[in-house]
Amino acid sequence: MFPKVRMRRLRRTSRIRDLVKETVFSSKDFIYPIFIDENIEAPEKIEAMPGQYRHPLNNVVEEAKELVQLDIPAVLLFGIPKNKDETGSSAYDKDGIIQQAIRSLKGELGDSLSVITDICLCEYTSHGHCGIVDNGRLLNDPTLELLERIAVSHAEAGADIVAPSGMIDGQVHSIREVLDKKGFTDVVIMAYSAKFASSFYGPFRDAARSAPSFGDRSEYQMDYANGDEAIREVELDVKEGADIIMIKPALSNLDLIYRVKKVFRLPTAAYNVSGEYSMIKAAGEKGWIDEKRVAYEVLTAIKRAGADIIITYFAKDAARWSRDK
Ligand code: PBG
Repeated sequence: MFPKVRMRRLRRTSRIRDLVKETVFSSKDFIYPIFIDENIEAPEKIEAMPGQYRHPLNNVVEEAKELVQLDIPAVLLFGIPKNKDETGSSAYDKDGIIQQAIRSLKGELGDSLSVITDICLCEYTSHGHCGIVDNGRLLNDPTLELLERIAVSHAEAGADIVAPSGMIDGQVHSIREVLDKKGFTDVVIMAYSAKFASSFYGPFRDAARSAPSFGDRSEYQMDYANGDEAIREVELDVKEGADIIMIKPALSNLDLIYRVKKVFRLPTAAYNVSGEYSMIKAAGEKGWIDEKRVAYEVLTAIKRAGADIIITYFAKDAARWSRDK
């Protein structure tokens, strides 16, 4: 008790504070998402995500080399195809934009960078929903078949990790089964297990041109009011064979990152999504907050909550900041 106990003693100098610091993150915890656009020849700025770009295929390896240099272990690929249709067929075309990108990344960089791919249809369907739609409703089981085809085409191209993000029931089971059947027993599944219908995805949907043309995604993505349901979603994905589980968005679900890590003790990823990034960027640009310090605080909080892996658009900046510190 005071005066013998003085908590401020361990805060007196930055050196002592370093010694007693409980949570640190490093570039090795990061996954960096990038957008690859089949319709462009040169990188294009993403308006709503300052500092982020849509890349043409011929720029992807260069971008990836930078990640390797920064000691970031993995990239998460999102594709913007030339052609969209009702069933998102360019998502499972073996010469689709992502399949080509995987082949060039793995061909040039081998295992020095892990390639993770998003397994979803919303960027590829004309209606912008994450599967086959009939009468305004997303059909679950027919969609599974398409997700299997996407996963196999990515695995054939050389993907290390596939990440189903559509919140389609049974998607992890279906993908694990088909990958195993085709001999891809080593391809990892990182499941977007608890993905909420969140307004924080707005800038991403601009970037990936994947906003739904009618309705929203609340019929398949989770209601952010529900915590126990998130645990149940994770439990099912674990049973279905997920190797890594993910909570998304990160900042508004720190409690769930904590709970999920405690309950399942599996590698746990948190997606620090586009809106979380852009809010910090925007307020930083206005001079209302210190972008770098706020980003540090947020990334530390996500780690402290229990995330082993952070998917973040800040990955490159944060890797540089910690290097220069
Ligand atoms: C679906 C997908 C989305 C994000 C990642 N995968 C968009 C959505 O569900 O509408 C959002 C990520 C972000 O906001 O950074 N393919």
